[in-house]
Amino acid sequence: MRIVLGVGGGIAAYKVASLLRLFTEAGHDVTVIPTEAATRFVGVATWEALSGHPVSNSVFDEVHTVNHVRLGHEAELIVVAPATADLLARAATGQANDLLSNTLLMAGGCPVLMAPAMHTEMWQHPATQANVETLRSRGITVLEPASGRLTGSDSGPGRLPEPEAIFEAALALAGAPPVPATAPLPASDAVLSSAPGPLAGLTVTVSAGGTREPLDPVRFLGNRSSGKQGVALAAAARDAGAKVRLLAAHMDVPPPSGVNVVNVETALELRKAALHAAADSDVIIMAAAVADFRPADVSGTKIKKRDDVADPVISLVRNPDILRELVETRDAASRRQLIVGFAAETGDADGDVLDYAAAKLRRKACDLLVVNHVGQDKVFGEDTNSVVILSRAGSEPQEASGSKSDVAAAVIDRISAELSRVVPPA
Ligand code: CTP
Repeated sequence: MRIVLGVGGGIAAYKVASLLRLFTEAGHDVTVIPTEAATRFVGVATWEALSGHPVSNSVFDEVHTVNHVRLGHEAELIVVAPATADLLARAATGQANDLLSNTLLMAGGCPVLMAPAMHTEMWQHPATQANVETLRSRGITVLEPASGRLTGSDSGPGRLPEPEAIFEAALALAGAPPVPATAPLPASDAVLSSAPGPLAGLTVTVSAGGTREPLDPVRFLGNRSSGKQGVALAAAARDAGAKVRLLAAHMDVPPPSGVNVVNVETALELRKAALHAAADSDVIIMAAAVADFRPADVSGTKIKKRDDVADPVISLVRNPDILRELVETRDAASRRQLIVGFAAETGDADGDVLDYAAAKLRRKACDLLVVNHVGQDKVFGEDTNSVVILSRAGSEPQEASGSKSDVAAAVIDRISAELSRVVPPA
């Protein structure tokens, strides 16, 4: 579900970082819009890092995307926390003096929940109470604040409700209870366009880009994947009529239009999103470059160089093999689903590229393996590619080369052919 999380300028803004985490971990796509004052309490970098989206509070940023209209139009749920006295007043009087208030005015029919936090006197002031009444009369859900210790020595009603309580109230309002990891994604999150074509009516999930494995809040282990091939595959699947979900790790290119994007950072996040997405996917294409290892320990604070202690040694632990797990999960559920892996291989004295690729196909047990020959020609970041498509069913290896769009079209054609071989058209 697409959520806009508006953050008001109150000390409770720090608790909203946990609320954001709850939303993203449940698989929702959250855009944070803090007010100017909110960024004095929690900086833009925190919201960007936790949401995976750029963050702004000005209507003059990203003007070409018409943000002040688009965010409100696209939102399926808007949550404002903490809703300060000022923010409630601005919303009640329909002001449009920053990105959040514009977005609230553009919200159309989507549910809006506001979670107030302020000192007791402000909350109980007739002006605030009148604003709350106005907002409620317009169908906006304004939660009652919790009671307890406030910022100073005072206590009383005015505390921000706990993040878990806001999370549950928000999802209940949107009619989308938290989903277990194996349940299908909510329909709104799963599907977009469905055009005529060989994949019409099918849902295709594509992973793309390179995962990033954090070492500390500012550093990560990553790889050179640009995401170009995965993005081209998502576009080709869309053009073949499929409803497409793109699981986007770090990419150098923007996602294509008309596909549903789920942003992920680490291999573990990609695993969760992929297993989640698998429940309603007819085809899964694992084009992402997944880190095989992650740091065993992630420092909560920036690792400093110090003269009085030895330089750090990074220990790694192995990440799960997502592709293998997808195949196992599918087989255990006897689900009809085509799973495609990618492999970058080099030959050596013990075997050529196709020998190693064939061994990988047996190991991973996916239906198709798209093999890049790396070594003499670089693949990462280039606009062209040359691959061999191997099939577990044993048909002849098929070569495809050209632009990454050409290669994507060939892979999608092959997927269509495999599907029609397994399930003849009605
Ligand atoms: N893959 C995955 N999970 C991982 C690693 C890779 O799902 N932890 C997927 C990739 O998305 C790709 C395929 O597996 O579709 C092959 O990736 P590759 O890195 O070549 O496979 P590895 O199993 O890591 O093989 P190698 O030992 O050659 O690195």
